[in-house]
Amino acid sequence: MAAGSALSLVAAAVCLALAVLAPAVSGDGATLESVPDLVKAMYRNIESFPCVRLLNLSGEIGCSNPGSEKIIAPIVRFKKGSDHLVQPSTVLLPLDQMSDFFLRVSNNPEFHQKVSGVLIESNGANNNLQELSPDRKFPQDAFAPYSNRSHDWNPAGSGIMWNRYDFPVFLLSEESTQTLREVSEKNEKTDNGYKANVAEFDLIMQTTKAQTHDSASCLKEHSCLPLGGHSVWASLPPIKNGSAEHQKPIILAITSQDSASFFRDRSIGSDSPISGLIALLTAVDALSHIPDLSNLKKQLVFAVFNGEAWGYLGSRRFLHELDEGAHSVNGINSLMIDQVLEIGSVGQAVIEEYPSFYAHAAGNSSASKKILDALQSASKSLGSDNVKVKQAASSNPGVPPSSLMSFIRKNMSTSGVVLEDFDSHFSNRFYHSHLDNPANINSSSIAAAAALAARSLYILASADSVVDLMTLNTIKVNVSLVKELVGCLLSCNPGFSCDLVKSFISPSSSSCPSHYVGVFLDDPSGTQFPSYADDTSRFVWNFLADRTSTSVGNKSSCTGKCGDEGEVCIRAEVEGGGRCVVSTTRYVPAYSTRVKFEDNAWHVLPANSSDPMGVVDPVWTESYWNTIGLRVYAVQDSTYDWLILLAGLSVTTASYCAVHVGRAYISKVVKRD
Ligand SMILES: *[C@@H]1O[C@H](CO)[C@@H](O)[C@H](O)[C@H]1NC(C)=O
Ligand SMILES: *[C@@H]1O[C@H](CO)[C@@H](O)[C@H](O)[C@H]1NC(C)=O
Ligand SMILES: *[C@@H]1O[C@H](CO)[C@@H](O)[C@H](O)[C@H]1NC(C)=O
Ligand SMILES: *[C@@H]1O[C@H](CO)[C@@H](O)[C@H](O)[C@H]1NC(C)=O
Ligand SMILES: *[C@@H]1O[C@H](CO)[C@@H](O)[C@H](O)[C@H]1NC(C)=O
Ligand SMILES: *[C@@H]1O[C@H](CO)[C@@H](O)[C@H](O)[C@H]1NC(C)=O
Ligand SMILES: *[C@@H]1O[C@H](CO)[C@@H](O)[C@H](O)[C@H]1NC(C)=O
Ligand SMILES: *[C@@H]1O[C@H](CO)[C@@H](O)[C@H](O)[C@H]1NC(C)=O
Ligand SMILES: *[C@@H]1O[C@H](CO)[C@@H](O)[C@H](O)[C@H]1NC(C)=O
Repeated sequence: MAAGSALSLVAAAVCLALAVLAPAVSGDGATLESVPDLVKAMYRNIESFPCVRLLNLSGEIGCSNPGSEKIIAPIVRFKKGSDHLVQPSTVLLPLDQMSDFFLRVSNNPEFHQKVSGVLIESNGANNNLQELSPDRKFPQDAFAPYSNRSHDWNPAGSGIMWNRYDFPVFLLSEESTQTLREVSEKNEKTDNGYKANVAEFDLIMQTTKAQTHDSASCLKEHSCLPLGGHSVWASLPPIKNGSAEHQKPIILAITSQDSASFFRDRSIGSDSPISGLIALLTAVDALSHIPDLSNLKKQLVFAVFNGEAWGYLGSRRFLHELDEGAHSVNGINSLMIDQVLEIGSVGQAVIEEYPSFYAHAAGNSSASKKILDALQSASKSLGSDNVKVKQAASSNPGVPPSSLMSFIRKNMSTSGVVLEDFDSHFSNRFYHSHLDNPANINSSSIAAAAALAARSLYILASADSVVDLMTLNTIKVNVSLVKELVGCLLSCNPGFSCDLVKSFISPSSSSCPSHYVGVFLDDPSGTQFPSYADDTSRFVWNFLADRTSTSVGNKSSCTGKCGDEGEVCIRAEVEGGGRCVVSTTRYVPAYSTRVKFEDNAWHVLPANSSDPMGVVDPVWTESYWNTIGLRVYAVQDSTYDWLILLAGLSVTTASYCAVHVGRAYISKVVKRD
């Protein structure tokens, strides 16, 4: 063997050793078999809930990436005392500092610039926070039918959800809070100032891309949609159509079904307002067992409004449809509405000897005196299950923020009362925050309010005739129904997957219930058979139709329409469950009276002084977005990068000499043959 070939053999061996060793430097032992595996190992997706961008006629609120690029920034845990940021960072923020932090960001543009993104820790079950409310001290004050706007209905309110933030913000789940704390601790341990663990935010908003910064321009450019959904009303007993029979005055019982929060999909609203919704549904259930309701002097009508948290969309649109005599409100008209009883937040009754509620009457309380009297009689009739009602303090400027405001603004002499669990200030310390969860309410309080409401409504519907005490005393609420509804509408488990909801609808979401209103997608004219309506609205519609129905109509199963005008098809989404029943239950669209759907697009209408609430309507819209994402991963610090470079170089050298030596060797072998 020639000396040359021996040399090349040695060189080949060295090259081979280098080539084998080089990858071992960068491999960290895990066996990765595919690209998705690799991505999974490198990036951790973090369970979290975003704050999104909303717009109104004058500007923007909420959160968004500043541009149309993803944001990547190292994670730093924010602590009291060491709260300055050296470089643009992802701030991991303890929940108890949320309000202070966002107020500081809004007041300090320099600080705002150092914040690349915010991750809010979840407090978990051992929550010892005393209060948290991102809404204002007087929520939606512009709609109040009185001029004193300095009253603090919501003393805990910080107002932070109404500001604009040019960085993404996410609420973490309990589990991901743990993960992020570990990650930020790792970052703290590196003393060379290099933060290896970063968060990558994908919260790119279409309105930012399209440069449309208010509702009018984004609707025009199709980068947003108006907030809205579906309200539901039902009458007990059903209203006969077409008959010349004299129509009775209406006792209207109302409540709302939507809430708000800093984080779109964590708008649970247990006390405000879902406790009131549960009380209303239970009251309807209780009243539905009474025979001969059609003999009463007045007609009971129940309405559940959607979009109330965003400019009283549901109640205002309902009144607007009444004015227009729209199909959705066929059978009733606004002149027939005699008295209005709203069930507000009733999940935290003041417990003295008995649970106590406060009745807030419209400005001129003499017009509402009959409702107050009915509440007192109902309270007395409950005997040993006594529930107390007090008249709210006369020092209050008027009714608290409620749907009743729409009715009063419409007609100052409306006689109406709102039933609440507070007098001058909300007892809910977590108004419009994700902490207004089932732990924030007591189901016996809701059951007490339901009993009170059911009996008061019966008394009001009996009008001036003598109340049938025998019947009155048979009106009893089903306490297990209250508990079941709390589980279905407020808790994550079972949530909408509970048996009661599944007996009526096939829920589209299996995650924790959230009562954010959403956006109004399609043409509002096809409201009775909406192509989409949220789970809560569809459940409420089916539940009310079922409980207010007099008799089962056509025995054959249905899927949508029923043959008879006075019938509706309930449980249509449930496999083989659709049945026609005689009931007056209808959807009413809930969207701003200041927008109009025309030529396949939404347009903002000019303010009309004959619609005073429309004049002050901010016209809320939500920006489009594609996917929202948050992930966390480690980037290597520079020493490590050098090592990788070295390894890479050696691989290159190794392959180069392998090729070179190999070629020389082969050519020799070939020549020799
Ligand atoms: C509308 O958005 C602007 C701009 O961010 C904000 O200042 C204003 O308070 C919003 N209007 C209402 C009624 O919340
Ligand atoms: C407005 O309400 C606040 C708090 O209830 C009260 O202190 C104030 O005197 C009222 N202002 C007017 C002008 O009535
Ligand atoms: C009620 O009756 C009127 C006229 O009789 C009819 O035009 C209308 O469609 C009916 N509506 C319902 C919901 O039954
Ligand atoms: C209050 O309402 C009653 C009856 O509806 C009416 O007689 C009275 O004039 C009203 N008072 C005020 C101050 O508006
Ligand atoms: C306002 O309400 C009063 C009392 O219910 C009623 O008499 C009056 O007709 C209503 N006015 C309008 C314009 O609806
Ligand atoms: C709910 O209120 C009742 C009194 O009405 C009280 O006995 C019970 O302990 C309360 N439950 C909770 C969880 O606070
Ligand atoms: C009370 O509600 C529960 C739960 O929905 C139901 O199973 C039960 O039959 C109801 N009881 C009565 C007497 O209606
Ligand atoms: C029952 O309803 C079905 C479908 O809705 C319809 O085809 C049928 O004619 C109805 N029968 C009667 C007796 O109304
Ligand atoms: C304002 O509203 C009234 C009543 O709804 C309507 O008659 C009028 O045409 C509207 N004016 C404008 C300019 O839209």
